[in-house]
Amino acid sequence: MTVHFIGAGPGAPDLLTLRGRDLIASCPVCLYAGSLVPEAILGHCPEGAKIINTAPLNLDKIMDEIKAAHAAGQDVARLHSGDLSVWSALGEQLRRLKAEGIPFSITPGVPAFAAAAAALGTELTLPGLAQSVVLTRTPGRASSMPEGETLVNFAATGATLAIHLSIQNLEKVVADLSPAYGADCPVAVVYRASWPDQQIIRGTLSDIQSKLGEGVTRTALILVGPALAGEGFDESCLYAVDYDRRYRPQTADSPWASWQHGDD
Ligand SMILES: C[S@@+](CC[C@H](N)C(=O)[O-])C[C@H]1O[C@@H](n2cnc3c(N)ncnc32)[C@H](O)[C@@H]1O
Repeated sequence: MTVHFIGAGPGAPDLLTLRGRDLIASCPVCLYAGSLVPEAILGHCPEGAKIINTAPLNLDKIMDEIKAAHAAGQDVARLHSGDLSVWSALGEQLRRLKAEGIPFSITPGVPAFAAAAAALGTELTLPGLAQSVVLTRTPGRASSMPEGETLVNFAATGATLAIHLSIQNLEKVVADLSPAYGADCPVAVVYRASWPDQQIIRGTLSDIQSKLGEGVTRTALILVGPALAGEGFDESCLYAVDYDRRYRPQTADSPWASWQHGDD
């Protein structure tokens, strides 16, 4: 018996890995985080599967379901939105499983920030503008932030920020970022990326609040940074005509000329 943690993706049911789909189809028990996991994905469960929405359950109750499946020798598909490596409550569940000696596997999923970037039609690391993406959030009712992980500190890097779980704190986000990024810095809010009701609101730090209005109150990502402009960046060396590289040696004297696939 194994608990298979599966990243269910950002919303569109076909943004699920083939491995995730096949695991769901093989498990007689499915626990899913109903607040964000699309119901259509549950269509991959086998007929007669026990399907439980964990949104109203606490961790003890979730563990009770897992332990019952373990006692019955039944594999469990455990679905969380996006990818499991960020804000999925994976850590606390793994700790309990390890303590109980219950085996598990982890299958990654498409994270919301990647779906948002795709919806915007942009690369978040544009040469000359940004080469780092910070996945972060602001403090919430249930979660404080470790000291040092402040927007002001991240802003000092100039990186592209993908700010999760924070649309209700937009005013503070703007106030914290404006001194370092400037009022004209591009911002995009992507609401429910990849869902049928996806919305994109583009603006700058100075006008994003008025553009957003009252409509978007949850399930949105705030992306901030110069790369969001999608212009004014350099081309990467990777595909430059004269760039000498392993896969494209420029001369017979190139250190890469004798390199063959399979070397190093
Ligand atoms: C609990 S976190 C889950 C993150 C998820 N594990 C991931 O890999 O993206 C929920 C937050 O992720 C963001 N989010 C999740 N799905 C989204 C989507 N489809 N579009 C925009 N933002 C989304 C929002 O900021 C939301 O408040």
